[in-house]
Amino acid sequence: MRFPMITHTCLLAYISTSLAETIPSDHILWGEGGRPTTLDKRQQASATPTSTRVADSACTNGPFTRSCWSDGFSAATDFDAKWPTTGKMVTYNWELQESTCNPDGSDTRPCVKINGQFPGPTLYADWGDTIQVTLKNSVPNNGTGIHWHGIRQLGSCPQDGVPGITECPLTPGDTRTYTFKATQFGTTWYHSHFSAQYGDGAFGAIVINGPASSNYDYDLGPYILTDWYYKTSWQQGLLAHNNLQAGGPPPNANTVLINGTNVKGSTGSYAKTQNLIKDKKYRLRLINTSADNTLRVSLDNHKFTVITADLVPVKPWVTDSVLISVGQRYDVIFTANQAAATYWFRASAVAACVSSNDNPDALAIFSYKDAPNQNATPSSSAGSLPRDCNEPDNTNLVPWVTNTVDQTAFMNQVQTLDVDISQTVTTNGQNIVVWSINLTAINVEWQDPTLEYVATKNTSYPSAYNLIELPKEGIWTYWIIQEPADTRVPIPHPIHLHGHDFYVLGRGQGVFDPSSFPSTLTWQNPTRRDVALLPGGGWLAIAFPTDNPGAWLMHCHIAWHVSDGLAVQFLEAKDQAPLGDSAWQNGCSKWTEYQKTMKYPKTDSGLKMMMRDSYF
Ligand SMILES: *[C@@H]1O[C@H](CO)[C@@H](O)[C@H](O)[C@H]1NC(C)=O
Ligand SMILES: *[C@@H]1O[C@H](CO)[C@@H](O)[C@H](O)[C@H]1NC(C)=O
Ligand SMILES: *[C@@H]1O[C@H](CO)[C@@H](O)[C@H](O)[C@H]1NC(C)=O
Ligand SMILES: *[C@@H]1O[C@H](CO)[C@@H](O)[C@H](O)[C@H]1NC(C)=O
Ligand SMILES: *[C@@H]1O[C@H](CO)[C@@H](O)[C@H](O)[C@H]1NC(C)=O
Repeated sequence: MRFPMITHTCLLAYISTSLAETIPSDHILWGEGGRPTTLDKRQQASATPTSTRVADSACTNGPFTRSCWSDGFSAATDFDAKWPTTGKMVTYNWELQESTCNPDGSDTRPCVKINGQFPGPTLYADWGDTIQVTLKNSVPNNGTGIHWHGIRQLGSCPQDGVPGITECPLTPGDTRTYTFKATQFGTTWYHSHFSAQYGDGAFGAIVINGPASSNYDYDLGPYILTDWYYKTSWQQGLLAHNNLQAGGPPPNANTVLINGTNVKGSTGSYAKTQNLIKDKKYRLRLINTSADNTLRVSLDNHKFTVITADLVPVKPWVTDSVLISVGQRYDVIFTANQAAATYWFRASAVAACVSSNDNPDALAIFSYKDAPNQNATPSSSAGSLPRDCNEPDNTNLVPWVTNTVDQTAFMNQVQTLDVDISQTVTTNGQNIVVWSINLTAINVEWQDPTLEYVATKNTSYPSAYNLIELPKEGIWTYWIIQEPADTRVPIPHPIHLHGHDFYVLGRGQGVFDPSSFPSTLTWQNPTRRDVALLPGGGWLAIAFPTDNPGAWLMHCHIAWHVSDGLAVQFLEAKDQAPLGDSAWQNGCSKWTEYQKTMKYPKTDSGLKMMMRDSYF
């Protein structure tokens, strides 16, 4: 595919600086008595900064100074350009194994677990740490590969964990080590990017400690919201695919899990968060690893202050609820300022987002320490929450660190990628219906990852690699992701980009009209994140700067949509792309050998993450 001439423009040059100091990881909940110390007050004054978002080198992180970090780093730091160098490496040893799961107590099914846990272990690090995860694949007959969602992987593309793009899958019995740097901070997650495996349990949360754009007392940690099926994702994926061939929607989810649990009929239990202290502020890290029901998330009687969208700190935004599409994260703060009682936390299906209608409301219980009975069934009600499927817009999610997207090259350079279902011929010669982006369904070969093409300087990329070259560093690229006007299935798609955050210039219904440029788009500090919702029957305009050489997937995060091809990959500045080392090569040799006799050959795009989804 050819990439048109691009006018050279300015850009976010990145400078990888380091102040080479070890950052003390000060996560102790000091000031707990509720009284700021003198130092707190001084810091608070310098760190409550909508107007003066400048780093204060004397400022350290604490309940009243969350925007500070340490040694000159703060929420005001341009994390594209610099991050602390802690000199610290956090290491994890993980083993992926077959197991069984029944999180709501009603149905036991095969699943996979990392170190015996479902969801997998939470990975903790401090901003600036190096993270090293050694993964052993003990699943007897399937490959694996872990993707670190939202992690920029600056200069470390071979660690991105995408079989067929940045690596060969990890052969059963083999071990590989991922090493990468936490240049960003906040809440994210990891998941297997090897076909359906993620939906069977190969996922978990990542917490990178760092500054925040608003103060809080306690961090309640990650709170994973996910839907759950009683069939394995491989079975589910096949059903979804077959239904698509017949023009029908995929099967409904059986339940939705909040923090790994829920009640189904007479079995299971509600997730409980207890001992909330009156007037304290709590941070909750919401992660959507779900696929099916579109849910609006809220806590009865309490407002949320949203402080991050994905890994990007935003100006605190107060709202009654958030709508989270798959792969997205919101860190929210709520204040325990209501009567000491128990309250429902809700993840409620939104029909406007084309949800399945089975068990639409997932519930959890939040209770105050001083409640008469912390185990009492809450009597709270949801109040009136929006029922639309609209993501928060650019006026709600304003990045804390201000960036301006350069618009001078937009008209010359912008390209449209159509997203639709289409007829395509697969390798076995059958006509099948697939999801596609730019009307070609992606199909990668596990044993020939894109980075291998780059390493051998082979530019004969198969057309089904959906590879778009971005040869030049230091420029802005702009993309309109469009559902065609005549689409048969106008549904929203959460679009996720690897290796970069993107800026959400705008979105709308119908077909994007370039003649209305630029007034309809936001150029001054637009929302920045790594997943955004393409409205059903509409368009999404995004921009990102080329500042990270490598092969980066951009795809719909709905499991079986990417399974059925809804993805492209950007090959950025291939001559400067980091390549796999000898261990990486070795892994490929093992896989290539294994694949000759493997029990379960590839039956999909190779990239599907969940296969247990979804709406249609
Ligand atoms: C391995 O893959 C096969 C088919 O692709 C699937 O049926 C099976 O459930 C998978 N096993 C695990 C443990 O992921
Ligand atoms: C979620 O579950 C984990 C494990 O059971 C627990 O430690 C954690 O406190 C729970 N999170 C919240 C916010 O309740
Ligand atoms: C997760 O994302 C999917 C797809 O966008 C959406 O349907 C679902 O509601 C989301 N779940 C939550 C808990 O927000
Ligand atoms: C989209 O597909 C068309 C037709 O195959 C092709 O000419 C164009 O280059 C593709 N767009 C991109 C951005 O690759
Ligand atoms: C380049 O890749 C193509 C497609 O996979 C392959 O057919 C060809 O043999 C490769 N060329 C070289 C020199 O390896």
